[in-house]
Amino acid sequence: MGFSVTNQRNGGQFTVKSNETILDAALRDSRIYPYGCRNGVCGACKCSLLSGSVHHGEYEDFALSDDEKQNGKILICQAKPLENIIIDADEVMAGQSLQIKMLPCRVGKIERLADDVIRLFLTLPKTQTFDFIAGQYVDIVLKDGQRRSFSIGNLPEEAREKGLELHIRLVPDGHFTPRVFESIKERDLMRFEGPFGTYFFQSEPEKPVIMIAGGTGFSPVKGLFEHAMEVNPNQSVHLFWGARDQQDLYMSKLVEQWLNKHPNLKYTPVLSECKTADWEGATGWVHDAVCEAYDSFEEFDVYASGPPIMVNSVRDSLTAKNMRNDRFFFDSFDFAPQS
Ligand code: FES
Repeated sequence: MGFSVTNQRNGGQFTVKSNETILDAALRDSRIYPYGCRNGVCGACKCSLLSGSVHHGEYEDFALSDDEKQNGKILICQAKPLENIIIDADEVMAGQSLQIKMLPCRVGKIERLADDVIRLFLTLPKTQTFDFIAGQYVDIVLKDGQRRSFSIGNLPEEAREKGLELHIRLVPDGHFTPRVFESIKERDLMRFEGPFGTYFFQSEPEKPVIMIAGGTGFSPVKGLFEHAMEVNPNQSVHLFWGARDQQDLYMSKLVEQWLNKHPNLKYTPVLSECKTADWEGATGWVHDAVCEAYDSFEEFDVYASGPPIMVNSVRDSLTAKNMRNDRFFFDSFDFAPQS
């Protein structure tokens, strides 16, 4: 037995099976609503419940405040209907034909990009197809069933040839990343599931765009930027990359190549713990640097990926300068499901 979900925005309807979340049912039905962590933490899947009731599930307060809940907001990655419901939500058109798959893969090239960042390629099985949109993420599924989520840093065509590109930062005492730094080797067998998330490039060609990466949040931004340049090499993009010190800007040579090739790209690296004596660039928090760069963000599409605190700071400070909420796309990747 299940309950129906009707989206008032477009009249779409689908059925949620018992014990299924609204998001899982929507994905099963090839309907894509904005979402990120699938874990009740990032708030990306928030929408309005217009009628009926749900079990809200578990979530963090800052993803859904009590006020928002009182006002009929729900997180569809956690909520399960208790009867037939009507919601009001954006539906993302891109990616509707993408299938979420669990696939085996082999470790390809392993490249140390900084003291604590490795670029790992996962080569895909020749007999299987795996489609995704630049900026999405996959879950690596460990032998004990635990999962770790990583954004894909390259474009689908390149991934088919070289493998999925993941930028992995060492989490000391972590369950997975120390293994990547110490013992993983080429041709090791792994499993992953994906693609997940709706952090796609969704801007019109004439729209000025701001992209903000924090640390290895550069990985999905790389995918978004390369995708954008394929569609329109003249798109105006201002890229900000926030890192601790210069060595954490681990692909700055690639950004230099982009700058030489794309006259409408502007680049502002920002160091928060600068120890580089001859650094002449910006210092401090990346959201402050973005905020100071423009008087108003009304005309921009803004993409931000990185630690939750950075994404939230960007949202708060740019909203105060007229950024449109519906033109803010984000990926708080630290909020990945941990099991
Ligand atoms: S809170 Fe639902 S996707 Fe993150």
